[in-house]
Amino acid sequence: MPEGKALVLFWTKNGNTEKVARRIHDTLKKAGMDVSISRIQKKKIEVEYLDYNLIFLGAPVYENLSPKLVLTFLHKNRRREGVELIPSAPEIPGVAAAPFCTYGGGHTGYNEAEPMLKHIGQYFEHEGIRVVEYIAVPGFFPEADESYNTDGRFGDIRQRPDEHDLIEVEGSVRGILRRLHRVLPLGNLNL
Ligand SMILES: Cc1cc2nc3c(=O)[nH]c(=O)nc-3n(C[C@H](O)[C@H](O)[C@H](O)COP(=O)(O)O)c2cc1C
Repeated sequence: MPEGKALVLFWTKNGNTEKVARRIHDTLKKAGMDVSISRIQKKKIEVEYLDYNLIFLGAPVYENLSPKLVLTFLHKNRRREGVELIPSAPEIPGVAAAPFCTYGGGHTGYNEAEPMLKHIGQYFEHEGIRVVEYIAVPGFFPEADESYNTDGRFGDIRQRPDEHDLIEVEGSVRGILRRLHRVLPLGNLNL
């Protein structure tokens, strides 16, 4: 079983999700974890989740779900060698996951992010990987009509994610570590 290892896996088009991914990475590193960060690629690359103790997987919300490239990754990665989908999905010890996203929320706010986060979560839970947190961060929607970015449920999101959002992300990540360090082999952490 790995010890003290974390993975931040993300995809981004315009950079919002990368900002969040990098802050998650930096927070884990500062806390003392051995952390890798990588962008989900179009070409087939398998990721063995069980090589890590904590996995953060994030993307922008597209039509309330993940972008196609990420959906394809999730689907194909579940078919990697060694994965067994067992009835009742018995939990695997030593590993946990946290899906994250950025999203505009211009129409219905947080409800636009939740299906996507839960959908990603199901890929982990089906494999027996416990999902411990869902992190949703508002992010500017450059392709959309200006009003989506000024008149939606979050008001003016043209500068988001901003430093305040990223400090909240940092808090969530540190909260996960403080909560789980007794039940996961996260190594010697500075909390
Ligand atoms: C094709 C497309 C579809 C989108 N659909 C939604 C959506 O359904 N709900 C939402 O809240 N935001 C939606 N957004 C906004 C993005 O989720 C948001 O701008 C995100 O922060 C972009 O992340 P990125 O900069 O990492 O690419 C959409 C953006 C694009 C380009």
